[in-house]
Amino acid sequence: MPCRSDTPDASLSKNRPAEPLPESLAWIERELESIRAAGLERPTRVRSGRQGATVGLDGHTFLNFGSNDYLGYAGDVRLSKAASKAACAQGFGAGASPLVSGHCEAHDVLEKTIAQWLDVEASLLFTSGFAANTATIAALAGPEDSIASDARNHASIIDGCRLSQARVDIYPHRDLSSLENILAAAGGARRKIIVTDTLFSMDGTIAPLADLSDIARRHGAILMVDEAHATGVFGTRGSGLVEQAGCASGVHLRVGTLSKALGASGGFVAGHASLIHWLRHTARAWIFSTAHPPAVAAAATQAIRLVNAEPDRRHQLLENAAEWRSRLTRTSVDIGSAEAQIVPIVTGTPASALAMAAHLASEGFFVPAIRPPSVPPGKSLVRASLSWLHTPPDLARLADAIRKYSH
Ligand SMILES: Cc1ncc(COP(=O)(O)O)c(C=O)c1O
Repeated sequence: MPCRSDTPDASLSKNRPAEPLPESLAWIERELESIRAAGLERPTRVRSGRQGATVGLDGHTFLNFGSNDYLGYAGDVRLSKAASKAACAQGFGAGASPLVSGHCEAHDVLEKTIAQWLDVEASLLFTSGFAANTATIAALAGPEDSIASDARNHASIIDGCRLSQARVDIYPHRDLSSLENILAAAGGARRKIIVTDTLFSMDGTIAPLADLSDIARRHGAILMVDEAHATGVFGTRGSGLVEQAGCASGVHLRVGTLSKALGASGGFVAGHASLIHWLRHTARAWIFSTAHPPAVAAAATQAIRLVNAEPDRRHQLLENAAEWRSRLTRTSVDIGSAEAQIVPIVTGTPASALAMAAHLASEGFFVPAIRPPSVPPGKSLVRASLSWLHTPPDLARLADAIRKYSH
């Protein structure tokens, strides 16, 4: 039986009233005011219950198109049970960084399970996909190095590049000739690194992985990819787009998350055993941060087992997504070049994205508005994230609502 969450403590509503900020922090109110004026203020909604086809936000129930729970595992009781069992056996907190004494049996099993699943020698866990990207890039590159990064890469890749202090050249989204020019001009660099999302989180587009691995090979570059939104969804074993593209030997580092299709939390990097062992000496978020609770690792291992045992979920999801995208484009809704389960409807300004999201909410759908800095100025959008949990009638109803609003 799914368990109900605790009701919030009534005394929490009696938090201290806001006081004027001290002089040294007065600028914060001015900055908040300009965030509001630009239509970029973000509320934090309180979710009740679990992730699922529907979601309770601030006391209202919506059909949920705003989570990364692509396979419906985030609320699956089989993950909760695996987590409870590990928490009872291994305790809740990991208590230390993995380097010291926080690397529990559950983490060890998960790292080995990921390596087998991806068919690589080894993997290394981080407490988030964000930490996996920032720590790995900052370890790989320094001021003597050159990084070529796709313009639509995730913030965690951007921040990893900044942390590294390497020279960073941004190439236009999926533009291979610009990438070749960058690499050709980076001849003096100690290391050349290409870094890209495989499935881009805002556009729903897919990186040309076979071409990228060919370019990396010709230029003697390291190819690092972030499979955050592809893990669990693509490939015969569900391990991601590298597997689907059949170019594993040309990809040197694969980052993934446990927090999206796998329904758990955390991130990993996978590749050659020596590379992973070297990261244990150099990846600061692994060395200096407490390991995530063993219960989380046990839930993620269970999710990988389910991905292997239930391939129909990803097949159905991708089939539904293809049908849904063509339904929208047939009715002239602009979904850009989306080609997966992430489908953006570009509106332009923050206000137009908010207006569309509010309209869809009034019709019972949670489809979040995405605004700068998550997307470039002028490219605000509402983003529908499809899940295996959505039924064809759910999808048809949302498509109808979008079509009516857009025309
Ligand atoms: C492409 C990409 N990489 C990395 C991350 C970070 O993953 P996590 O949520 O596990 O920190 C995200 C999260 O949205 C993402 O979209």
